[in-house]
Amino acid sequence: MTKKLKLMLVAGARPNFMKLAPLVKCIQQHNAGRGQEAPAVDFRIVHTGQHYDAQMSQVFFDELGIPAPDFNLEVGSGSHAVQTAEIMRRFEPVCAENRPDWLVVVGDVNSTMACTLVAAKLGTKVAHVEAGLRSFDRTMPEEINRLVTDALADLLLTPSPDADENLKREGVPAVKIRLVGNIMIDSLVRHLKTAANGAILNRLSIRKEGFIYVTLHRPSNVDSRETLEPIVRELSEIGLQWPVIFPIHPRTRKKLEEFGLAFAAPAKVRLLDPIGYSDSVALTQNARCVLTDSGGLQEESTYFRTPCLTLRPNTERPVTIAMGSNRLTTVERLRVDLETALRGPERIGMIPPLWDGKTAERILSALASVVP
Ligand code: UD1
Repeated sequence: MTKKLKLMLVAGARPNFMKLAPLVKCIQQHNAGRGQEAPAVDFRIVHTGQHYDAQMSQVFFDELGIPAPDFNLEVGSGSHAVQTAEIMRRFEPVCAENRPDWLVVVGDVNSTMACTLVAAKLGTKVAHVEAGLRSFDRTMPEEINRLVTDALADLLLTPSPDADENLKREGVPAVKIRLVGNIMIDSLVRHLKTAANGAILNRLSIRKEGFIYVTLHRPSNVDSRETLEPIVRELSEIGLQWPVIFPIHPRTRKKLEEFGLAFAAPAKVRLLDPIGYSDSVALTQNARCVLTDSGGLQEESTYFRTPCLTLRPNTERPVTIAMGSNRLTTVERLRVDLETALRGPERIGMIPPLWDGKTAERILSALASVVP
């Protein structure tokens, strides 16, 4: 083990921040409590600026107690090629000058892949948190990001055994793979108390298990009128029976406006601006059902055992179906599947192994023990 372990941690988009926060906390605790013998862990945070609106970024830093980034690349939005290239161009000098022992990337967003590519070419070792997930659907930009990142990473830190199997099938040597559990759950466990006060339920005048929590932002659902229009129509119908709480992602809002789509008037579909972390956790915990296309919400609802319908033809998180509360649906089947879910138990499924709030500790010890 080196005397000082130098880490560079990358985050860029909203779903990265709850994966970064537990790692930072764990490093800070390690440094505060370490004896003379244990190595200090030096870390630098890079924010690529892929997400930049306060509601998509800064609120998460504040709420999750993440220190201000050491480097903000401020790349902003763009086509995939433009965004990826801009991140690479701006990250290269940062990585070259700082030469960390490990570049730690999380998840599957463009920032994850772009920084991995840069580090790999500079000879900097890459550790990927949430490695090995596969939807087997290459029309999803995230699937491309996962494949490239995992092909280049030196240490593949996986959330569930299916991820290990995927990597082995792709020829990744077992020695590079560590099953560490789900880092998202570390953040969730730490915020249970704040979420439990149910402030958002009071604010929205909704009651426990008396509403449906909806989030939809995948290009495959929202980017074309052909897919978004029937979703709006179905949600309007559902909203006649149940309060629907729908915080709108900027991509979805833009598309609703572009296509001139609106929810039918008497429906109880409540459109909110993007909400913070604890509020989202509280809604997931207390919803009668979650309807989503987000990877994170599939996992969080699994932890709370809240019935979840995923509006996608596939999921890279099959454990949420095999063990948990999740089920895939289509817009055509949505109302029937929802009725089935609402007739079923309020809580279903099981919490997968190693989704226990201790994943960051396992990651840190893997990083310290595999000397780059
Ligand atoms: C990105 C990730 C996706 C993740 C999602 C969570 C990729 C390929 N996609 O998708 O995996 O599930 O984040 O939010 O990395 N915008 C704003 N303000 C912002 C950020 C974006 O208004 O702070 C708008 C812009 O119009 C932008 C659009 O949202 O063009 C999409 O942003 P982008 O980062 O390209 O992809 P997401 O859909 O957010």
